[in-house]
Amino acid sequence: MRFDLVLRNGRVFDGSGAEAVSADVGVVGERIAAIDRIPAGLAEVEIDLRGQALSPGFIDVHTHDDRALLAAPDMAPKTSQGVTTVITGNCGISLAPLVLKGTPPPPLDLIGDGRSYRYARFGGYLDALDAAPAAVNAACLVGHSTLRVGAMDALDRPAGDAELAAMRARLKAALDDGAIGMSSGTFYPPAAAAPTAEVTALAEIVAEAGGIYTTHMRDETDGVADSLAESFEIAERSGAPLVISHHKVAGRANHGRSAETLPLIADAMKRHTVGLDAYPYVAASSILDASRFDISERVVIAWSQPVPEAAGRDLAEIIAEWGVPAARAVERLKPAGAVYFLMSEDDVRRILAFPHTMIGSDGLPHDRHPHPRLWGTFPRVLGHYARDVGLFPLEEAIRRMTSLPASHFGLSGRGRLAQGSFADIVVFDPETVIDRATFEDPAVPAAGIDLVIVNGKTVWRDGAPTGARPGRALRRQDLIRQGEHDARRA
Ligand code: ZN
Ligand code: CU
Repeated sequence: MRFDLVLRNGRVFDGSGAEAVSADVGVVGERIAAIDRIPAGLAEVEIDLRGQALSPGFIDVHTHDDRALLAAPDMAPKTSQGVTTVITGNCGISLAPLVLKGTPPPPLDLIGDGRSYRYARFGGYLDALDAAPAAVNAACLVGHSTLRVGAMDALDRPAGDAELAAMRARLKAALDDGAIGMSSGTFYPPAAAAPTAEVTALAEIVAEAGGIYTTHMRDETDGVADSLAESFEIAERSGAPLVISHHKVAGRANHGRSAETLPLIADAMKRHTVGLDAYPYVAASSILDASRFDISERVVIAWSQPVPEAAGRDLAEIIAEWGVPAARAVERLKPAGAVYFLMSEDDVRRILAFPHTMIGSDGLPHDRHPHPRLWGTFPRVLGHYARDVGLFPLEEAIRRMTSLPASHFGLSGRGRLAQGSFADIVVFDPETVIDRATFEDPAVPAAGIDLVIVNGKTVWRDGAPTGARPGRALRRQDLIRQGEHDARRA
């Protein structure tokens, strides 16, 4: 047998949560052909890993990379962390299916301007990814807010019958085109007026197609328990598997309440397929919104269209400098984005330590001064929370980034290292891996990520992108077919 690539002397983590074994990994084309002792002289290229860790590439389950995949296809913020697959279209906002003439209503402006929304069909967006591939794979959700903006002339009310029918038809078409499910963001203005029944009626379409439903809940503050109950109801009534996005309990009054929310999630898991994700920071980030100030210790501007130089500055400082009331300052800065310090470290740790929590960056790739989660999430979990804090062993940290999300999102053939699986691989140094992106200096690649391979091609090496773009748009139908094929082989 001949190999295109042999990675020799790795400490191989298969993604299942099992401890590492010492082995060589052989790649042929886009697949893993052997995990074993491989004799010398059988490979085009051999790399001696000298005992470094080797694991399945990481899956970033919560991203807003819809447009970044096309606009910055080397995807350095992600490949530099060892991420090989991203889930796009979260929080109710996806780039497709929607054609816009004017300015997108916030938060749709987080991922693009009016011209970016130019895909009438979801398939048109996926075709664009095929035509100009990125360095990483992408599995794509349809956003409920995107559907609303496309189907309704006013967003401050529930959808009428005809509008709901139009949204259901567009969602079904998107799923037929290859979308893997739907996200909602009833926290945000474009969907805040959507009642539970509207979201449920759409989640039914998702369930019929075998897709997944993810949600940025209506309320992550005082009403977090009610919002969990609403999310469980939507999922259970519709039959769609659920993911609670970026789970948090926000605002000082709610600090400590993860001790209450996690048992609620564990309980729902007994009745239904429920998952959750989190990012490893005490600060959130989103559009600039005055209602978040009272519950935040500190607010930092991430971007501002009218005042670009405000990016990276403390809002309190700007208000003092301008000598105007907070509300006036906010109006001057908008449209804008911000970073909000509103969680407690204890809650972040408790949520991360919950055995079912997947890792999702929620990074905002177009922000001028982004939250450091965009560049730091995965190495921070590996280096800070697993190694230094000791929240869980390394193999468990890897499981939450690989096999757990792959099985939850149905990413067949990925998330586990086995003969025949796709060669999505990361090689890193467990002793030195760490995030270097900070709130002050957020766009800095992590340390300790040596080599990243997607579909058998190296995309990150020696601290830089290689220029290879082997990523694929993963379509729902292909994933289901691959899953059936894998099940037959097993
Ligand atoms: Zn969100
Ligand atoms: Cu998000």
